[in-house]
Amino acid sequence: MSSPPARRPADLDIVRDSYDRVADNYAHLVATTGLGDIRTHPWLRAAVDAFADAVDALGPVLDVGCGPGTVTAYLEQRGVRISGVDLSPRMIENARRLHPEYSFSVASATDLDLADSSLGGVLGWWSLFNLPRDVLPLVLTSFAQALVPGGQLIIATHVGDDDVTRTEAYGGVPVSWTTYQWQPEQLTALMEKAGLRAVAELRLAADQHSGPAVVLAAQRDG
Ligand SMILES: C[S@@+](CC[C@H](N)C(=O)[O-])C[C@H]1O[C@@H](n2cnc3c(N)ncnc32)[C@H](O)[C@@H]1O
Repeated sequence: MSSPPARRPADLDIVRDSYDRVADNYAHLVATTGLGDIRTHPWLRAAVDAFADAVDALGPVLDVGCGPGTVTAYLEQRGVRISGVDLSPRMIENARRLHPEYSFSVASATDLDLADSSLGGVLGWWSLFNLPRDVLPLVLTSFAQALVPGGQLIIATHVGDDDVTRTEAYGGVPVSWTTYQWQPEQLTALMEKAGLRAVAELRLAADQHSGPAVVLAAQRDG
């Protein structure tokens, strides 16, 4: 059995092209400023370390929207059996260049054909905020079904109420995407509706990231 892929957003190709355009700058910013490098951010690193401990020996982990693979590599080096997928082929080229020893492939969170009860953990690390409001619940349900009992989902995302139109990002590169902000309570409700139980929440003040943000973890029971 496998979960049916979630519905494909209408603007997926536009979002992919945008991330392809920013991918090289993004990887450069990771290398030169520590962007996305949790080792430079004590609270985010603590959350990812807790996730690593929680998924220990449960099964393989999937980093969905892995970008250049910074967190994927961090977790692999912590002993987690992990692979990364990303919508953007250029992000995946960067991930393979920077971390040639690890496993990366191109796929959208909405098109994954995940076998039921096949994963010990799933990360959506700053990578689910472009999913339209009616698509994110379907993606969370596909993640929940793919987790083994006890399996863990962790997501990091921007907090707010707005649909923010972005026209440039990561060093002034032209992009075209919407950042869907959420309140933590809304996300917790979505995760629980998907069949998960919320287990942890870390709210980051605006000066701890690029605006208010939250890390949420949830577990598949039973
Ligand atoms: C802000 S970057 C974060 C990358 C990485 N997780 C990190 O923390 O450095 C957002 C990533 O999500 C990816 N992304 C956006 N929509 C996606 C989707 N539908 N499926 C998979 N990846 C997606 C983008 O291509 C991009 O690499």
